[in-house]
Amino acid sequence: MTDTKPRVLVAYATWAGSTAGVAERIAEVLNRNGFAAEAVRAKDIRDTASYAAVVLGTAVHAGRLHPDALQFARRNATDLGTKPFAAFVVCLAMTATDEKGRTQAERYLEPIRRQAKPICEGRFAGAYDPQKLGFITRQIMKMIKAPPGDFRKWDEIEARAAGLAPLFTARPA
Ligand SMILES: Cc1cc2nc3c(=O)[nH]c(=O)nc-3n(C[C@H](O)[C@H](O)[C@H](O)COP(=O)(O)O)c2cc1C
Repeated sequence: MTDTKPRVLVAYATWAGSTAGVAERIAEVLNRNGFAAEAVRAKDIRDTASYAAVVLGTAVHAGRLHPDALQFARRNATDLGTKPFAAFVVCLAMTATDEKGRTQAERYLEPIRRQAKPICEGRFAGAYDPQKLGFITRQIMKMIKAPPGDFRKWDEIEARAAGLAPLFTARPA
């Protein structure tokens, strides 16, 4: 039997894996909401034409999003403009309790917005494990007082993913 559920791509770009975890959870939630969603590394996707809707997630290092996310957005900009497209960023700026961190996180998706305008954006606190880094990077992270830990709020991520379902069902204008 053919699967008639709308196909959704949750593409992600990650260095240490926390963005992959968020993308997988978003795909799981979409699957529970009537979609055939899959989380795939952005660099492994040549073309988004066969998907009804697309989500793109990226990690941030030194103020810049992952190059694979930007390349994905550039490569598929025309197609993304024709279908529901959402984007999210996973970063430590979102662990800040003040408005400054949130404003900073808001800026990270700007290079994606220039390629294709998302109908919905997510900004999620990520995870940082010093054991996954080399000595020098670890020292830099210490200097900028980056807090080690996993700050991903799964309830919030799931709620935002569930909120995508009605947006992905509606046809784009
Ligand atoms: C070397 C390095 C630089 C980072 N730079 C930033 C940054 O500029 N802004 C920010 O909000 N988070 C920054 N982070 C935090 C990461 O965005 C966060 O750990 C994220 O969860 C990483 O995603 P990943 O596990 O998918 O690679 C940095 C992390 C590392 C290890």
